[in-house]
Amino acid sequence: MTKSNNRESQYPIDPMFLDRWSPRAFTGEIIEEAQLLSLLDAAHWAPSSSNQQPWRFIYALKGSEQWQTFVGLLVDANQEWAANASALIFVVSRAFTGTAGSAETKPSYTHSFDAGTAWGYLALQARLSGFYAHGMGGIKHDEIRQAFAIPEGYRVEAGVAVGRIADKSVLSERNQAREFPSQRKPLSEVAFNGRFIAD
Ligand SMILES: Cc1cc2nc3c(=O)[nH]c(=O)nc-3n(C[C@H](O)[C@H](O)[C@H](O)COP(=O)(O)O)c2cc1C
Repeated sequence: MTKSNNRESQYPIDPMFLDRWSPRAFTGEIIEEAQLLSLLDAAHWAPSSSNQQPWRFIYALKGSEQWQTFVGLLVDANQEWAANASALIFVVSRAFTGTAGSAETKPSYTHSFDAGTAWGYLALQARLSGFYAHGMGGIKHDEIRQAFAIPEGYRVEAGVAVGRIADKSVLSERNQAREFPSQRKPLSEVAFNGRFIAD
């Protein structure tokens, strides 16, 4: 087992998996575009079905003209803390394979799975680079589609806030109360040897 960050795995794993977590308290500092691109570069080295690389990342940096627009595309509960991140990203996936508009396009079965892998890579690289990445399902999907003219065939997956961690006193009382690394179900509840157990 491995212990780190108030967490303990059941089997030996690299501590980086325990050290990655999703804080809401960010310093709000400005970061360089190259620092964010380093995280996105790691993300786009994720494996994907037939190397289709269906992930797409739309990003804005704090301090840029687009920042307030991006913040406005999060649900209110996320705006409250994510406005203090250093970068916001919307992850979009291409839900079909082949050249757009051609006869050989086919629906992709794995586009969301692949984009999820890329987000996972991003989150781990963020930690390795001194940042934290916090995924957000609480985003305004339809408004994001409109704001960036995302055509049919692409799925708006999730948002990601990236920043450097701050003291939890920057958060509302409600968010301070949940500002800690979460635990996990026992491995035996999710990993089955040769059978499936529904819950
Ligand atoms: C796809 C996805 C969507 C999430 N949506 C939100 C969200 O809208 N707001 C939020 O505060 N946290 C959100 N989270 C953070 C999760 O609650 C968090 O990852 C989970 O509780 C596990 O905790 P940990 O990341 O600290 O290990 C999201 C995480 C993921 C991966």
